[in-house]
Amino acid sequence: MAYETLIVETTDHIGLIRLNRPDALNALNSQLLGELGKALAAMDADDDVRCIVLTGSEKAFAAGADIKEMSEKTFAEVFKDDMFGPAGQSVIRTRKPIIAAVSGYALGGGCELAMMCDFILCSDTAKFGQPEINLGVMPGLGGSQRLTRFVGKSKSMEMNLTGRFMDAEEAERSGLVSRVIPAKDLVDEAIKTAKKISEKSMIAVMATKEAVNRSYEMTLSEGLLYERRVFHSLFATDDQSEGMAAFIEKRSPQFRDT
Ligand code: CAA
Repeated sequence: MAYETLIVETTDHIGLIRLNRPDALNALNSQLLGELGKALAAMDADDDVRCIVLTGSEKAFAAGADIKEMSEKTFAEVFKDDMFGPAGQSVIRTRKPIIAAVSGYALGGGCELAMMCDFILCSDTAKFGQPEINLGVMPGLGGSQRLTRFVGKSKSMEMNLTGRFMDAEEAERSGLVSRVIPAKDLVDEAIKTAKKISEKSMIAVMATKEAVNRSYEMTLSEGLLYERRVFHSLFATDDQSEGMAAFIEKRSPQFRDT
């Protein structure tokens, strides 16, 4: 499929999606969000893709929702269109893991998009923020909810109320990102990490992604029971027999996703 706002490629079982609106620092307009939803759905349905990396440019992962596109909209329009509702769903319903590789600005919807991915690797130049307050609005794609879960109430509240940016070092210290990588190596490192995931059993990978994401939705005791039951169910897979046999026989497992 041809995309105008994304560069999409699949190599060696890794789907790489680059946001590509360089003149607007990858601002998320409706065309880009629509194309992103289609690209993610296509990769999710493609057996050749086992893990997805979502990235932007060195200067910007994404500088937020497209302010120029939004500026003239009325309440009635954004409410009736459920602005950003379907876009958010298209990311979170993806069952394969998505790694966000963030360099430069990840602001507003850009920070929110990164947080919708399964984990974030960022470069030493990354800057995260929810500056919507400066536009007379507030986050609309999860910034008040997910950022709070990532970094805690105090830091989230300060960032959401003042619009201040967080640098890479603070983002790692606060648990927003899993690792900081030199900018020139970021995408290669994200692909290397995706490659590691792609070598596991896809059934175990998808079940693990679901279980970790459920931890945000369930009480601890319900979550622990859910985890245990899914763990039990993996004993119905060939990959469980293979993975454990390979360990005992001191060889690499040959997973078949069955
Ligand atoms: N929407 C539309 N266009 C944007 C944009 C955005 N979010 N961010 C940057 N651009 C455009 C600029 O208008 C500019 O275009 P022109 O050359 O045509 O003027 C181009 O990208 C380059 O930007 P700057 O000249 O501003 O670049 P800079 O290096 O001086 O500053 C920046 C970079 C600090 C990121 C600055 O661009 C900025 O503050 N951007 C807006 C950030 C923002 O407020 N994001 C939140 C958006 S609202 C939202 O996301 C709602 C939600 O929750 C979903």
